[in-house]
Amino acid sequence: MKAYIKTFGCQMNVYDSARVMDTLAVLGYTETDIPEDADIIVINTCHIREKASEKLYSEVGRLMQIKKDRQAQKKDCLIIVIGCVVQAEKDELMHRAPGIDIALGPQNYHELPELLTQYARGHKRLLKASFPTESKFDKLPTIQSSSVQTYLAIQEGCDNFCTYCVVPYTRGAEYSRSWTEIKAEANALVRHGAKEIMLLGQNVNCWTDRDEKGRLVDLGDLVRELAKIEGLERLRYTTSYPSKMTQNLIDAHADTPKLMPYVHLPAQAGSDKTLKAMNRKYTVQGYEDIVERFRKARPDIAISSDFIVGFPGESEADFEETLALVKRINYASSFSFKFSARPGTPASLMKHQIKEDVKVERLERLQQLLFTQQRAFNDGCIGKTLDVLFTEKSEKHPNQYIGHSPYLQNVHVESKKNLLNTALPVQITEATLTSLTGKIS
Ligand code: 5AD
Ligand code: SF4
Repeated sequence: MKAYIKTFGCQMNVYDSARVMDTLAVLGYTETDIPEDADIIVINTCHIREKASEKLYSEVGRLMQIKKDRQAQKKDCLIIVIGCVVQAEKDELMHRAPGIDIALGPQNYHELPELLTQYARGHKRLLKASFPTESKFDKLPTIQSSSVQTYLAIQEGCDNFCTYCVVPYTRGAEYSRSWTEIKAEANALVRHGAKEIMLLGQNVNCWTDRDEKGRLVDLGDLVRELAKIEGLERLRYTTSYPSKMTQNLIDAHADTPKLMPYVHLPAQAGSDKTLKAMNRKYTVQGYEDIVERFRKARPDIAISSDFIVGFPGESEADFEETLALVKRINYASSFSFKFSARPGTPASLMKHQIKEDVKVERLERLQQLLFTQQRAFNDGCIGKTLDVLFTEKSEKHPNQYIGHSPYLQNVHVESKKNLLNTALPVQITEATLTSLTGKIS
């Protein structure tokens, strides 16, 4: 039996898809990347912006055709939709997409085997999108496989309620997995071949627990503990909430060589007025102070950020403050978006919504600046030797391998020798906006 899984959205969804594949593997399914061959098709969905959400419906339409073709050959094909759209739309989703057989919200993945049993007993069109009292992490199977660069969810959910964001509604309340559970999972990932682990959470730097001795620990302590795992070469974490950054975690960037010199620190906007309307709990000055502390601990650290333009009430002057902040920080990379009014969020009901053409124009101006900074950061790597962990072989160019630098840039290298799954020093010779090229030194 074969299963095909298609993932939209963030790294948390990539992690969840891997756990759902582990669940299916235990039930006897192997993964295929050809949907036409699959007995089960899973679509993992994203609700963060309207565009992301709409992708699901076109994908279900496409996969329904595959299901019909398979049924014509007397083979079945189960369509399972999981993820944040399920949580947000529930019955409306089932109504809008009649081809869906099973739908599961983000906190219900461990219930998949039970729903498959119910389905086999003749129950059709099953939907589970609740916030159960038990944690899915206690019920999901142990790690069955890993890629060389992988994700590990240590924290999930959000209590911040930024006024534009659906996450507190789709992922639920903030939750930290336990110190021992995370250590066990990290060890299992490394045993299955992981050399780089990205620790994940919607507010990853809010992670906290007690260690074996009952001491209160934070993400800085966890990073130092995981760095002791033999065979693990690199650690990263994302996404951080700026004002929740602890000095202990910042210090880990100075004292833990396995922790990569990169931090994603979403500013969202550069005006205090907009930050307040967004319910972000920091000021522009507070944000800059945090960046300063990172740079003091680790002068070469690459800073990245998310930005939203055209938030309700954002004036030209407010927007220019965002441009000014970007100029002062100088980002290595970034993600920027037009504000998307999401159903159920306070910002969707705010007065003074910004017109689409203004949003488009502001996004262009912001991206022009951000891309110039990113290009300059990449150009600055020419002539340097960077450690690259190779994760992919190019399909287009034979003998070309693709990996990641410590600063998370894509690096391309030509080699007759197989470089896959190894980390090697690479002398950087060329740079573009999105990648570097180099040779093994
Ligand atoms: N509109 C536009 N961008 C959004 N993001 C979250 N919600 C919205 C929205 N309603 C962006 C934020 C966040 C990133 C994951 O997505 O910048 O950090
Ligand atoms: Fe959304 Fe804000 Fe929570 Fe991030 S911190 S997940 S943007 S509500």
